[in-house]
Amino acid sequence: MENTVRLAVSLESFSYADGTQALQNIALELHRGGFIGILGSNGSGKTTLLKVMDGLVREYRGTVLLDGKEIRKLSPKEIYAKVGLVFQNPDEQLFAPTVSEDVAFGPVNMGFGADEVARRVNSALKAVEMEGLARKSIHHLSFGQKKRICIAGLLAMGHEILLLDEPTAGLDPMGEYKMMDLLTKLNQEQGVAIVMATHSVDLVPLFLNRLYILSKGRIVRGGPPAEVFTAPDDMAQVKLRLPHIAELIYRLKNEDGMLFDKIPLTVGEARREIIKTMTGHHA
Ligand SMILES: Nc1ncnc2c1ncn2[C@@H]1O[C@H](COP(=O)(O)OP(=O)(O)O)[C@@H](O)[C@H]1O
Ligand SMILES: [Mg+2]
Repeated sequence: MENTVRLAVSLESFSYADGTQALQNIALELHRGGFIGILGSNGSGKTTLLKVMDGLVREYRGTVLLDGKEIRKLSPKEIYAKVGLVFQNPDEQLFAPTVSEDVAFGPVNMGFGADEVARRVNSALKAVEMEGLARKSIHHLSFGQKKRICIAGLLAMGHEILLLDEPTAGLDPMGEYKMMDLLTKLNQEQGVAIVMATHSVDLVPLFLNRLYILSKGRIVRGGPPAEVFTAPDDMAQVKLRLPHIAELIYRLKNEDGMLFDKIPLTVGEARREIIKTMTGHHA
């Protein structure tokens, strides 16, 4: 059961009505309990790909299977019972006057009674650590709080698969970590399968173990971060860069002749590699 595929994307191509070819040759899978990152620069096709996975974009050549069924043959209700998309901009998603009304909207429309709606709203707000803010006006929330409420709204509907479009964009550094921490918890403790689109190269190696690099609508590499983050030139070709810490070690190795076995992607790994190199000992 562990390896059950929930979403399988196999696209030959997708073009928008104006002729822009946005996606080509995409093959990726999201497994039960999986957490994958789609890493790409602006315009690389991340948002389009998430919309394909949510059944919002449908005029492509190829197939997208949700639990083995062609997503284009499912009704919106069947899709939204399982999959939820969190937009990049929370203001496009939130519309009710207060937090609790917004989070309740989905469960109310799914036909649950008042007690069940209240239970779902409470548990979703708790999951995103916003339980104290149920009565607050949406207008008065910070940007990061709004993003959390968007996620709560989807959790209250019982989504098992969350698609998140740049969930850390626009947050301050602590907010970025908190958001990644929240997503990691939802994934590990509640079993929510997650696809996250991002261009945040410094953050993803800390939290994700499977990444796909999207460039000009194509997946150019996929795998664990250590395989996906390659030489600075390769990264520049896809309009990305190495994490800062990796760039430093790469240059110490290649320009200053320091001996490193591997290029670390996080501060913790870098610390171990530096100690190993300088002392010959393992940290
Ligand atoms: N509604 C649309 N009509 C035409 N072209 C679009 C539309 N939305 C996005 N595009 C184009 O598709 C490409 C991919 O866009 P997008 O998926 O938004 O990339 P990303 O989310 O990675 O920034 C871009 O070239 C963009 O200009
Ligand atoms: Mg986008």
